[in-house]
Amino acid sequence: MSSKKNLYMLLIVVLVFALALSACSKAAPTATPASTTEAAKPFGQASCGPNCQYKDMVMCFPQLGAESDWRTADTASFKDESAKDGFQLVFSDAQQKQENQISAVRACIQQGVSVIALPPVVEDGWDAVLTEAHNAGIPVIIVDRSVSSDPSLYESHIGSDMELEGKRAAEEFNKKFPDGANILELSGTTGSGAAVGRAKGFRAALNANIKIVDSQTGNFTRAEAVPVMQAFLQKYKAGTDFQGIFIHNDDMGLGAIEALKAAGVKPGDLFIVSVDGTRGGFQAMVDGWFQADVECNPLLAPQVAEMALKLMNGQAIDKNVLTNETVYYPDKAAELLPTRKY
Ligand code: AHR
Repeated sequence: MSSKKNLYMLLIVVLVFALALSACSKAAPTATPASTTEAAKPFGQASCGPNCQYKDMVMCFPQLGAESDWRTADTASFKDESAKDGFQLVFSDAQQKQENQISAVRACIQQGVSVIALPPVVEDGWDAVLTEAHNAGIPVIIVDRSVSSDPSLYESHIGSDMELEGKRAAEEFNKKFPDGANILELSGTTGSGAAVGRAKGFRAALNANIKIVDSQTGNFTRAEAVPVMQAFLQKYKAGTDFQGIFIHNDDMGLGAIEALKAAGVKPGDLFIVSVDGTRGGFQAMVDGWFQADVECNPLLAPQVAEMALKLMNGQAIDKNVLTNETVYYPDKAAELLPTRKY
């Protein structure tokens, strides 16, 4: 009997406790939590929004390096744009090392910049630092090359369609060698969006009768391309074992030309297609060394700055903005060379 009584008592206590708890949970949150106020504001909108101007903007630009003429032009584009518009540019040069870029991004987060424009040296390995930027409320625009991170970790990507560039290069080989050929590939930085995309697009569009007999990286630099081309020439006889070379950028193309000439091979006897469309690439077409140059435009800063200001003002932006590009040929190279901006 007494144990039944105890059970009743226990049930009453539990019931009273549960009622008290539910009353508390209903009564407590009368004030709107700060996070709800934040959520009403578009992500990345600055405190000056929706009336921010360029003078209010601090843009972090952790440039990946200075490996090529393309990169030099890209850096100049950002520095010029900051001077023209009047925003502050926090610039650093990572010397083609991802860890340097990550440290630079972290320093910018600490500094509380308005926006981060990140040109990633490689595709993978950005999740942690992009999450840190996101948690700090700083919008990130991926510039030039792509990242493999989830798109929710950045606001937009502005750059070239690297796969399309590879496809365009393949079409040049398909036109030149309808009966097939053996070719070499001098590829860009391993794991970079530019090299991965170009290689993928190239293979997807290349005719089955054109064989890539070897592919090695020259890390997008002229200096590193020279020994790679020399090693190719030790293994393969130009004209016999291979008839063409797909080269992922103009700087490596010029390095390859240097090595070919030093080995007594006339570069014009091979079919060489490069990427970028720099002045060096145009000169190589004028000289008869490159047979086509697939454009990759480095002058990205005007678009990036405009988008960054929109983000600060809470305006809608596009998630992926691809640059409009073309292919250049030797027949117009001499005429266009003086007009080239990079
Ligand atoms: O990511 C763009 C590529 O990087 C360019 O083709 C190359 O020249 C640069 O180094």
